[in-house]
Amino acid sequence: MNSSELQNRDAKQESSGSPVSNLPASGAPAARHRSRITAPEFISRKQKNIPISMVTCYDYWSASIIAETDIDCILVGDSGAMVMHGYASTLPATVDMMALHIAAVRRGAPQAFVIGDMPFMTEVGSIDSIVSHARTLMQAGANAVKLEGAVEGYGGSLAAIELLVRSGVPVMGHLGLTPQSVNSFGGYRVQGRAGDAREKLIEDARRLEEAGCFAIVLECVPEELGSEMAEKLTVPVIGIGAGSGVDGQVLVLHDLLGLTPGKTPRFVRKYLDGAALMHEALENFHKDILTRAFPDEAESYT
Ligand code: KIV
Repeated sequence: MNSSELQNRDAKQESSGSPVSNLPASGAPAARHRSRITAPEFISRKQKNIPISMVTCYDYWSASIIAETDIDCILVGDSGAMVMHGYASTLPATVDMMALHIAAVRRGAPQAFVIGDMPFMTEVGSIDSIVSHARTLMQAGANAVKLEGAVEGYGGSLAAIELLVRSGVPVMGHLGLTPQSVNSFGGYRVQGRAGDAREKLIEDARRLEEAGCFAIVLECVPEELGSEMAEKLTVPVIGIGAGSGVDGQVLVLHDLLGLTPGKTPRFVRKYLDGAALMHEALENFHKDILTRAFPDEAESYT
């Protein structure tokens, strides 16, 4: 919205008597999405050797910015429990928390392909409960769900994935450093370094593919293993700390924008020093208030 459109909007709102002070300072951008992908297209993208870009997002305004870019798809990850809510791990994420974030992202990016994370332990339990969790996320606005691990047998993620795929819910798998298992791993560590762990990851990925996953996130594994898994699988492998030989990449939005406090993992590339820019903007705002430089005439109503 340009400044004259903004002025027109303000004028209309003033004349209609709406409370101008409660309005956002800028209008919601007209959301669009330039390259909406669908679940079946993930495989054709791999066949055409066109890498897939994915970014996490948890809120309306970031989603509306992502919707204006060529990023292929949005992951409403349970990392939102850490990034947006300040928890120390992803374990406190709940279905309701995820549904709230998915709905906000959907409003910001109406056309985007949105994947919603199934929170910790929601793949365990009765068929009814698994279906109900996935239904909540899909009805909140997800196009697909993501589940961590490839556990066989009762309460395992494989049974849940098969069930959901048969019910028409596209499922993205997640292997390697699956953050919901941080307590079993004893910390956030690179996975698949030892020979047997490496073989197990390759085997697990095959199982996920057989269970019907349309793509697999592979987190924090040695680069050669990432490349080998991408080569061996038909479905795309979306890496995060899995090297450059995979079929796509995902990063946490706040990590790539430089908004994450403290140290970030080695695999993060900071595309912006967002925290420093925000800090500077807020200090400038504060100074302008002290010196009465804000607001000026153009920012005041006659
Ligand atoms: O929750 C999340 O953000 C994720 C990504 C790190 C892949 O699962």
